[in-house]
Amino acid sequence: MTGEKLWDGRFTAGPSALLEEYTQSVSYDRALYRQDIAGSKAHVRMLARQGIVSDAEAQNLIRGLDAVLGEIKTGVFVWKIAHEDVHMNIESRLTEIVGEVGKKLHTGRSRNDQVALDFRLFVSDRVREWGDLLRELIGTLTDRAGENIKTLLPGLTHMQPAQPVSLAQHLLAYAFMFRRDADRLTDADMRIRISPLGAAALAGTPYPLDPESVAAELGMNGVFANSMDAVSDRDFALEAMFCAALIMMHLSRLCEDLILWANPSFGFVRLPDAYSTGSSIMPQKKNPDVAELMRGKTGRVYGSLMALLTTLKGLPMTYNRDLQEDKEQFLDLDRTLSLSLRIASGMMREMGFVPEKMRAALSRGFLNATDLADYLTARGVPFRKAHRMAGRAVAEAEKRGLGIEELPLEWLRGISPLIEEDIYPALDFARSAAVRESPGGTGAKSVRRQISVLRSYLRRGRKDDRKKVR
Ligand code: ARG
Repeated sequence: MTGEKLWDGRFTAGPSALLEEYTQSVSYDRALYRQDIAGSKAHVRMLARQGIVSDAEAQNLIRGLDAVLGEIKTGVFVWKIAHEDVHMNIESRLTEIVGEVGKKLHTGRSRNDQVALDFRLFVSDRVREWGDLLRELIGTLTDRAGENIKTLLPGLTHMQPAQPVSLAQHLLAYAFMFRRDADRLTDADMRIRISPLGAAALAGTPYPLDPESVAAELGMNGVFANSMDAVSDRDFALEAMFCAALIMMHLSRLCEDLILWANPSFGFVRLPDAYSTGSSIMPQKKNPDVAELMRGKTGRVYGSLMALLTTLKGLPMTYNRDLQEDKEQFLDLDRTLSLSLRIASGMMREMGFVPEKMRAALSRGFLNATDLADYLTARGVPFRKAHRMAGRAVAEAEKRGLGIEELPLEWLRGISPLIEEDIYPALDFARSAAVRESPGGTGAKSVRRQISVLRSYLRRGRKDDRKKVR
């Protein structure tokens, strides 16, 4: 026993500096200090209610924990690698402040259930923040959609010109992805906020603890059912990290569209200066670096998810020190995701759309070919036949270097006498989008409906969250 560690009763020699550096987590898990102190205070109050410590002792401990919190917040707290992690740094400082009674804090508790609780509270806080950031992004996309219901651009499949769509429709597609993401977070949060405190090291404890009251005080949704599961489960973190990976995937797709649109061959957007950079050699360059980085950082977030999944796959029951690897991955992922979401909102708010370029692009690629087929179908031609006839018109237009709408009526009537003068308005690009009023389609009414769905979602969103998770 060297007396330096909280756990060295059976040890005769201190650890080497290399070992200390290897095993410590305080350099990053200190980010969990708020959750650690809140958890300890709830634990102490419960110990007093259950008669395990006296009221006076509990008051002392809580006063001491608040003092530690104050020191950390004001930056005077000295974090020591020798104390390994956030939990032991706080506990040993507490004992310095309050004396012997500090050693009662850990009664009926293990670092195993303590760290599980802290991390659950931390992950939950972050997940709620991600939800807020998503709602901000959805709001921005919805606003920009509202301004661009009548702005048309080529909709693509296989990255080839397909049919005209409203820019609003395109932006709203992303807004709906992010809505699903926000809902997934709310759902995951229900499972994250289950308190493991009271599981102790792995087997429970002989003390008459009341885990339910601790969970209630911390605003959790319930308590663990099995002590071994409680201390070894990190599903909650993985679930949050999967949600994060999915959000990054959606952001990355949005970035990919913006990168294409910023290319002069498209020219559909002018990147805001604040979200692009120049080249050190080519003076003409305005590069979409921010969007590229976001696309790139998606790989990093997937990596964190994969790393933790892999860490967990070989773990026998119950707590194993491998689990300490959860926090660095999560913290890195959180930093990337939170920043990305903030930046995506700002970038979309300031994105300069270029409707003239979008409109000009409509006349390349026969985007109204389906409209010709639909015109014939409306006049009784079975769709498959109409499709073939429209295909002939495409081939002819291509040969002449024209759009379908530029072919003379006599030629068109050669494919079918059912074609009359009113074919030209039917081939108009704006009309092509306007008539697609099927549910969820790109017609203006349908787009407005989508916008109002999202707006009422945003009005409800936050309140629903609070109701479900308290
Ligand atoms: N720093 C540790 C972690 O993050 C805390 C729990 C340590 N428990 C133990 N039995 N060594 O997992």
